[in-house]
Amino acid sequence: TALFQPERRNSRGFDLHHRPTLETIEAARAPFADHRWTAAPLLAGPAAPMPPQPVANPGRPDDQPGTVACASPADVETALSRARPWDAPAADRAAVLTRASDLYEAHFGEIFALLAREAGKGLPDAVAELREAVDFLRYYATHMPDAAPVGSFTCISPWNFPLAIFTGQIAAALATGNAVLAKPAEQTPLIAHRAVELLHEAGVPRSALQLLPGFGDIGAALTSDPRVGGVAFTGSTDTALKIRATMANALAPGAPLIAETGGLNAMIVDSTALPEQAVQAIVESAFQSAGQRCSALRCLYVQEEIADDLLSMLKGAMAVLRLGDPWQLSTDVGPVIDAEALADIATHIDRARARGRVLEELRVPQGGTFVSPTLISVDGIGDLEKEIFGPVLHVARFRAGDLDRVIDEINATGYGLTFGLQTRIDDRVQHVTERLQAGNIYVNRNQIGAIVGSQPFGGEGMSGTGPKAGGPNYLPRFCALPRERADE
Ligand code: NAD
Ligand code: ALA
Repeated sequence: TALFQPERRNSRGFDLHHRPTLETIEAARAPFADHRWTAAPLLAGPAAPMPPQPVANPGRPDDQPGTVACASPADVETALSRARPWDAPAADRAAVLTRASDLYEAHFGEIFALLAREAGKGLPDAVAELREAVDFLRYYATHMPDAAPVGSFTCISPWNFPLAIFTGQIAAALATGNAVLAKPAEQTPLIAHRAVELLHEAGVPRSALQLLPGFGDIGAALTSDPRVGGVAFTGSTDTALKIRATMANALAPGAPLIAETGGLNAMIVDSTALPEQAVQAIVESAFQSAGQRCSALRCLYVQEEIADDLLSMLKGAMAVLRLGDPWQLSTDVGPVIDAEALADIATHIDRARARGRVLEELRVPQGGTFVSPTLISVDGIGDLEKEIFGPVLHVARFRAGDLDRVIDEINATGYGLTFGLQTRIDDRVQHVTERLQAGNIYVNRNQIGAIVGSQPFGGEGMSGTGPKAGGPNYLPRFCALPRERADE
């Protein structure tokens, strides 16, 4: 049972269709257009970091938003030896996390600037990301279980939600009284550093929250030390498997690993679907955030009878997408995160082009790591060898009698994160959603942007261990098992 009953409201966010709101955002963001931030370890003892390195802006090679000094092996040792569970009363922890959520909101101008310049996020994505981070803080502050913490939690996060997921993991571990060792993605240390500063300013003690910027080696060090009680990880399935193996050799038996990983997400559009609604949902699901969401649509199945018409409408909707610098309000699709991601996605598109499978691609702007929103024809989701983490949508056709085969094909990938269905047949909704294995299933809407508290988010199979983030079962995993269960 939760200690506090939810007297909680999700963040109001910002209405970007309201001109005065936009002007307020522009004015708050403007002072940070040329600002240089610095990131470095934030420890409970003296730090001895590596020399500072530049941080890139994926949308503008001529811009440098700041520098990062990565944690050294000595910093890892300092963090591990100084970490102390946060033993303040639960009500005090809740008040501090709520105060942090207010500080996040108060710094919206700086946060939107950081998200654009370090993570390539346009304003709609940045608004959604700040909301989600705030919602995680408030939700976990009001849903604390009456249980003891595990001790120290390592929280390892990806670059694609450098504020929301970074904050969500930390907020969960802190709400339950753990000490946190936070390792942000190497591509986005600046926003992580600023977030930890705000959490400290709100009242989280340094011994309960330390930041260790760096690459995978720092993550590996923080998941292979027996002083760590548990790990919250969000990132690729490959990295999660490595962490599981490392933990098995080094941490106490039963140390929790909460892993939220990748997906091969599908949508089925049958012949009864509303075409305009389906096209809007497809464009948002596949191309918003430049396709760099774990929840993004990767493989669209369209029923043969409507496929030509729907694809022609989809190409029309793609043709008006504007690619460019995410700082500009007119931009619909920003860059992918870095040159490595660009090369990986480009190789995939080149192979499809060589096989005559590219159905549509757009022109990309010069400079920056831009990938064209691209349609690739496939026979089925089984043709995708791996998650392509960018604005690339694969399209397959199916016949009316083949629906169950399609569902089996999707299930056979072994992933199970999001799934979308577009249909006007009620029985079909029931049939498909019962058979399809995915953590989050969306009907007649897009399949991205789960709302904390209303749509707990997380996958099955190779997409994650569960429990779902932003839902009632998440926090208990950050707690020690009751003695009678631990003895089982
Ligand atoms: P990644 O696995 O490359 O990196 C994630 C984090 O793990 C980074 O901080 C990285 O430094 C760290 N890391 C790398 N090697 C490590 C090791 N051996 N030990 C410990 N830590 C290590 O993933 P990414 O490219 O940053 O993120 C994209 C991936 O994240 C995609 O697969 C996406 O689907 C997934 N993702 C999943 C969710 C979800 O909720 N299911 C949400 C966002 C992103
Ligand atoms: N929670 C994020 C979404 O639903 C990943 O898109």
